[in-house]
Amino acid sequence: MKNKLIEQKRRSILFKIFGVILIFTISVIFVVLAFWGLVDEQPNPMYAHLHLLITVIILIITGSIVASFIIRKILRPLYILNKAVEEVGKGNLNQTIQINSKDELGKLAIAFNQMIFDLKKMMLARDQLLLDVSHELRTPITRAKLALEMMPDSAEKDSLAGDLKEMEIMITEMLESERLKNGIITPTLAPTKVVNLLQKVVDEFSHKNNRIVIYPIASDLNINIDESLIITVLRNLIDNSLKYSSSQPKPIEISVIRHDQDITIQIEDFGQGIPEDKLPFVFEPFYRVDQSRSRNTGGYGLGLHLCKRIMDLHGAEIKLQNKRDSSGLIVTLTFRNNS
Ligand SMILES: Nc1ncnc2c1ncn2[C@@H]1O[C@H](COP(=O)(O)OP(=O)(O)OP(=O)(O)O)[C@@H](O)[C@H]1O
Ligand SMILES: [Mg+2]
Repeated sequence: MKNKLIEQKRRSILFKIFGVILIFTISVIFVVLAFWGLVDEQPNPMYAHLHLLITVIILIITGSIVASFIIRKILRPLYILNKAVEEVGKGNLNQTIQINSKDELGKLAIAFNQMIFDLKKMMLARDQLLLDVSHELRTPITRAKLALEMMPDSAEKDSLAGDLKEMEIMITEMLESERLKNGIITPTLAPTKVVNLLQKVVDEFSHKNNRIVIYPIASDLNINIDESLIITVLRNLIDNSLKYSSSQPKPIEISVIRHDQDITIQIEDFGQGIPEDKLPFVFEPFYRVDQSRSRNTGGYGLGLHLCKRIMDLHGAEIKLQNKRDSSGLIVTLTFRNNS
């Protein structure tokens, strides 16, 4: 709908540009003809031709300047609108546009701003609903867990316990991410040795530690973090890298780079990576690149969302990048201003 409107506006602007150029060309032709009239009566035709040539050149130059100025002025609102639409396409909803004209473009800007406002409202309502549902689900899950304890051991009991555990993890992740967003959890920062931090997380994956390689890390590297929150981030990222490269024999690689006061932790895998057009959405809650993979890899698409929240809270950066030859994903965590 919006694209159609932009397309219509673009067409009308092209007509205007075409009109300006047409009027300008006709004026030039008139001036040339008028001068030809003069030339005929000039005693020295060579001077008359020179005079005519210079006048035409001046006219062309000034005309082009005026035309390009007008064209730029006409196209500017369209450029602003186009940029905002592109940003929304990338998933950035913090866009409002300021076009003060009262024509169709002004109306389009108002409609665009209203659309962003409605979208945000819808997303807030969705988040709130999810939160309420997850919160309410905790009580029956706890009851079900207690009832399960009373059941005799069997394969069915194990399978039920597994399902309940999964539900519990999902609900905890959702509530945790929402508490982080609303400032209910605030990080308690303390200098933490990077080498110990990484070793702690990798030890949690002891059953898979032949698939993880940590490159040597200077023992004096410290970052100012809330350790338990950053452990959650690293756990999620390592879990992803192992999950989404499980068909590859190569282990995932973890390295740490120091650049002035920035410390970067990098996790690299040799899996399938993430399609470039999907990358901007992976931090959205419940976003999974390939829904059909869920049966093999489990998960709800909450891990990266939680990681982003935690990193934002630390004023740190998380970046996902495909390798050039599409042979896996590199995740970098950058912590700034560390001593
Ligand atoms: N290292 C990776 N390689 C390829 N795809 C990845 C990688 N990490 C994440 N993804 C893609 O991004 C999506 C979102 O990841 P995220 O960690 O948020 O969710 P999940 O792993 O599916 O579930 P959860 O973390 O909630 O258990 C994944 O479903 C997967 O499609
Ligand atoms: Mg995950």
